[in-house]
Amino acid sequence: MSHIPAVNGAPVLNVLVTGGSGASGIAVAGALREGGFRVFTVGSDRTRIEEAAAQAGDGVTPLVCDLAGLADVQSLRDSLAGTGVTIDAVIHLVGGWRGAKGIPDQSDSDWEFLERGAITTLRNVSRVFYADLAASVCGRFAMVSSTAVGKPTAATASYVAAKAAAEAWTMAMAEGFSRAESSAAVVLVVKALVDAEMRKQHPERAFPGATDVRDLAAAVVGLFSSPAGGLNGQRLLLTP
Ligand SMILES: NC(=O)c1ccc[n+]([C@@H]2O[C@H](COP(=O)([O-])OP(=O)(O)OC[C@H]3O[C@@H](n4cnc5c(N)ncnc54)[C@H](OP(=O)(O)O)[C@@H]3O)[C@@H](O)[C@H]2O)c1
Repeated sequence: MSHIPAVNGAPVLNVLVTGGSGASGIAVAGALREGGFRVFTVGSDRTRIEEAAAQAGDGVTPLVCDLAGLADVQSLRDSLAGTGVTIDAVIHLVGGWRGAKGIPDQSDSDWEFLERGAITTLRNVSRVFYADLAASVCGRFAMVSSTAVGKPTAATASYVAAKAAAEAWTMAMAEGFSRAESSAAVVLVVKALVDAEMRKQHPERAFPGATDVRDLAAAVVGLFSSPAGGLNGQRLLLTP
């Protein structure tokens, strides 16, 4: 079957873009909306997420939630369910970056920031929405990781450890989804993300190896037209 939603005859899929207020969130939400999905974006700051949703296009619904709080994420699901919305897919774009000079100066505060952004938010979102995704006709969960995980350095120790944990959790979801037939969890891997504003601000830079957020967005939309069996548990490299 085609996994692209149709208005007549087939269900329109509800996609939650968590961490939707940055350039990647705007691009992903916009592309999903153009693809016919019903899109909800989440950020912790109301002004930022509302402005981003407006940029992504008409019909993108901004939601405010601190995804680092499990009870808050449960409330988010409850409020969606109260309006008759069951989420089919989560595209998780929360992460963050911290680096250091080497191992000794990897700070506790940087680790706490990364654990919260890259791991805790992903754990919370997946724990709350897992059953909905597993029950969907086209359940999808995707996170964005980094090529740095495959090439750890002393300077990136906390970052790669946090991202590796998030990847491992996503693969654990994939193992669970392998019994669900129509659902898939995947890791999308980039070296760096680049967007039009970054190119405008730094016309002298070539951004080698960086993935344009439009290409990330196209890859996300493509997840819904690939059968779950072939996708589930994949680590898909999106570097150009
Ligand atoms: N940028 C890169 O070069 C790069 C490289 C490799 C991998 N990645 C990964 O790609 C993904 C997207 O990256 P990005 O740089 O576009 O975004 P990001 O800076 O990692 O995440 C920003 C988004 O997450 C939201 N957010 C942060 N904490 C939150 C919380 N507690 N609750 C709810 N929302 C929260 C932010 O909105 P608010 O602050 O308004 O809440 C914003 O929408 C991330 O997973 C990142 O790790 C990025």
